[in-house]
Amino acid sequence: MYCRRCGRANRADAAFCDACGTRLGESADRALVPPVHSDTAAHSTPPSPQDHLAAPRHHLPEAVFVGRQREMASLHAALAEALSGRGRLVMLAGEPGIGKTRTAQELSVYATQRGAQVFWGRCYENPGAPPYWPWVQIIRSYVRERDAEQIRAEMGGAAADIAEIVPDVRHALPDLPSAPSLTDPEQARFRLFDSVTTFLINAARGQPLVLALDNLHWADRASLLLLEFLTREIGASRILLLGTYRDIEVSRQHPLFETLGELSRDRLQYRIALRGLDREEVGHFLDLAVGGQPTEELVESVHQRTEGNPFFVIEVVRLLAQEGQLASGSAHRPRGSAMKIPEGVREVIGRRLNRLSPACNQILSVASVIGREFGLEELRCTVDAFLAESLLDSLEETLAAHILEEVPQAEGRFQFTHVLIRETLYDELTAPRRAQLHRRIGEALETLYSADIGPHLARLTHHFGEAFQAGDRAKAVEYAERAGARADVLLAYEEAAHYYQMALDGLEREMMLDQRRRCRLLLALGEARRKAGDFAQALVEFERSLQRDPNRFRTIYGAAQAAEASNNRKVASEYYGKLLALAANRDTERPELAYAKVFVERP
Ligand SMILES: Nc1ncnc2c1ncn2[C@@H]1O[C@H](COP(=O)(O)OP(=O)(O)OP(=O)(O)O)[C@@H](O)[C@H]1O
Ligand SMILES: [Mg+2]
Repeated sequence: MYCRRCGRANRADAAFCDACGTRLGESADRALVPPVHSDTAAHSTPPSPQDHLAAPRHHLPEAVFVGRQREMASLHAALAEALSGRGRLVMLAGEPGIGKTRTAQELSVYATQRGAQVFWGRCYENPGAPPYWPWVQIIRSYVRERDAEQIRAEMGGAAADIAEIVPDVRHALPDLPSAPSLTDPEQARFRLFDSVTTFLINAARGQPLVLALDNLHWADRASLLLLEFLTREIGASRILLLGTYRDIEVSRQHPLFETLGELSRDRLQYRIALRGLDREEVGHFLDLAVGGQPTEELVESVHQRTEGNPFFVIEVVRLLAQEGQLASGSAHRPRGSAMKIPEGVREVIGRRLNRLSPACNQILSVASVIGREFGLEELRCTVDAFLAESLLDSLEETLAAHILEEVPQAEGRFQFTHVLIRETLYDELTAPRRAQLHRRIGEALETLYSADIGPHLARLTHHFGEAFQAGDRAKAVEYAERAGARADVLLAYEEAAHYYQMALDGLEREMMLDQRRRCRLLLALGEARRKAGDFAQALVEFERSLQRDPNRFRTIYGAAQAAEASNNRKVASEYYGKLLALAANRDTERPELAYAKVFVERP
C-alpha cells in the first residue's frame, strides 16, 4: 500500500506509513497512488465535486500542511547538506501542539523522495521507557528491514555491542558472540557509542539516513549523551539528525539543557523555533478543513483564541463540527462571534471528551494512566469487568472521534492522537484514583509479562512508585532496585542512579529499617554516580553507606576511587589506607590492593 503523503510502499496490512507515520486507512491511500507532497497537494489540487458536498471535513486537517515555508526551506537546505556528505543536527523547538512532529514528518516525506531512508525514535512522557529508547526504536526498525547478511556487513564488529541494547540484533544474528566485557565504565560506554556511530555512518554510505528523534525533552540522559557523541562524528557523513523538543519544558536543570548547551557551544546544532500560524494561514487551514470560505469572524476568533497553534485549531474545528456549529456549505452557518469557542486547549479537549459515552470516558481515563501508548491486553486487564466487555466498542468510538489511533506496525497497540489529550484526562483524575489505577496497572503488567519481565522493569517501577501510598510499597522498592541494576547493565548509568535513588527514597518513606539493604543501595548508587562521572556525589553516597557499614571492601574502594577522580588526594589516600588495613586483617589478596599500595606510597 502506498502512502498518500510520502509515497512509501508499505505492507498491505499496515495501518500507518513506516516512513512518515501517516495513517493509511483512508480508501484513497489503499489505491496505488504516485508520491505526492502534501504541501503541493494542499495548495494545488483542485477540489473534487465531492469535497463540496462533504459534511464538514473535520478529518481533513491531517492531510493538509499550511505555512512553514521558511522553516521547510531551512530544513531542505540542511537535508541537501547531509545528502552531499555534510551531516548535521537540526532541532525543531516550540510549545506543545505547535507542529514540531508534523514538520519533522513533512521533512521525512521530502527526504524519502530525495532518496534518504528515514527512521523515527520517539521518547515518551511516561517515565518507564527502557534506556536508550529512541535509539533502540531506530536501530530496531532498521534491523527489521534488513536480512542477516546485510546487518552483518553493516554492523561488522559493532554488532555484539549494539545487541546489548537492541536485542533484535541478536535475534537476527543468533550466532553472534557476546561482547567482551570492559571493567572501566567510561570505556564500556565509549565502545557502545562508538559502535552505534560506526554502524550508522556505515549504513548511510549505502543510502543517506534521516534519523528523527521526537520529544527529546523526555529522553533519558544516556540517549542524550549518545546523541551528542553521534552529532560530533557525523560531519563527514550522509546523516541528518532531526530532533524535536518542547522548549518550555527545558529548564536549566533539565538534562537536555546541558546537551543543547554543549552542542551550541561547538556550533553543532541548528535550532528552528516554531511559532503560531499567522491569521492568513489559519484562514487557509480553516478553508481546507471546513470547506468553502470561512467567515472573517470565524478566522478572527479561531486565530485569536488559538494563537495559531495548529493542534488547538484542529481540535476547535473538530469540536465545532461535532457540536453542529459548522455546517459546510450551509447558509445558516453561525457567525464567528456567535460561536462558542473554548478558552483553552484543555477546555476544547474536555468538551470533545464530553461527547463520548461514559464507558468510553472511563476507559480513556484508565488508558491515560497506562501512558500515551498502551496495549489492548494491558487495558483489558486493568479496567473493570463490565467495561472490559464493551472495550472494543468503546475503542471504535474513540478511534472514530480521533481521540485514539492505532500504533503503526504494532498489532493491538493504541495511542492517544495527541499527548495533550492524555495529559488532560490524567490531570482530571484525583490523586487517590490515580494511585489506585497505577497499582492495578502495575499488577496487570506483572501478570502479563511474567515470562520476560526485564524489559518492563522501568514501567513497573513507575506504576508501583506512583501507587506508593496506596500500593505494595515493598514491591515499589524492589522494582526500583531491579530497574537500577538493569539500567546499569545497559550502561545507562544516570538512569541506574535515578532508580537506586528512588529505591532509597522508598525505603526512607516507608521507614523500612533494613540497614543492610540501605547500605547495598547506597553502594550501588555511589557506583552508578561514579560511572556517570559525578564523582563528588558518588563520594557522598559511599560515605553514607560507610556510616552504617564501615568495613565493606567495595564501598571503601569506591570512596577511594571517587575521591581520587575528584582530585581529592588526601581523602583518597585515607580510603586506600583503610582498604589496606582491612585487607591485612582479613589476609586477602586482590588486584585493587596493589593499586592502593602504589597510591599511598606515592610521594
Ligand atoms: N503547519 C501545519 N499545517 C497543518 N496541520 C498542522 C501543522 N502543524 C501541525 N499540524 C497538526 O497539528 C497537530 C499538532 O501538531 P504536532 O503533533 O506536530 O505538534 P507538536 O509540536 O509535535 O506537539 P507536542 O509537543 O505535544 O508533541 C497535528 O495534528 C498536526 O498534524
Ligand atoms: Mg510532537
